[in-house]
Amino acid sequence: MTQANADLAQLIRTIPDFPKPGIQFRDITTLLLDAKGFHASIERLAASAPDDFDLITGIEARGFIFSSAMATQTAKGLVLIRKDGKLPGATIGVDYALEYGTDRVVMHEDACVPGQKVLLVDDLIATGGTALAAVRLLRQAGAEVVGASFVIDLPDLGGADKLRAAGVPVTTLVAFE
Ligand code: PRP
Ligand code: ADE
Repeated sequence: MTQANADLAQLIRTIPDFPKPGIQFRDITTLLLDAKGFHASIERLAASAPDDFDLITGIEARGFIFSSAMATQTAKGLVLIRKDGKLPGATIGVDYALEYGTDRVVMHEDACVPGQKVLLVDDLIATGGTALAAVRLLRQAGAEVVGASFVIDLPDLGGADKLRAAGVPVTTLVAFE
């Protein structure tokens, strides 16, 4: 984390033992309450976005907050990646492993045109399971994932490294060790 983003780190509240014992939950609601901090987080993510991309993609639910702001900031359209059963049109999906069990992310099958360049946006990357599933899904749709941007990285969990190993350039603003 650069010194320049220390102001944002201070706006993110840590709640111990949520949603279960041992987890330090990094709570973005306190960042969202701070107008300057929320605005700065979007400006900084947008400033580090690739020069050339066609669409922003956001992951339900906290990811929608930052991805929709990024879409307006960068004047791009927005593709929603949702948990299964929420999108009304024909979808494609990818299953991924959780600590216990599996989950599934889906998107509308016609949300992007093959060859389009997309920038993935979420609030936080931890194990990378969610983001990697989103990348697989976007690639299945024929999109080129040209970057992934997160406000928060939990580097000890290795997700950002896994995403880079999968060929996706990663930007994060704040790291919590
Ligand atoms: C959180 C966060 C990321 C994901 C990161 O979402 O917003 O999407 O976890 O974890 P990972 O890197 O280990 O996959 P969550 O599934 O808690 O859903 P929410 O946004 O609906 O709260
Ligand atoms: N998603 C996965 N791990 C998290 C954490 N520690 N805080 C907030 N959201 C998370």
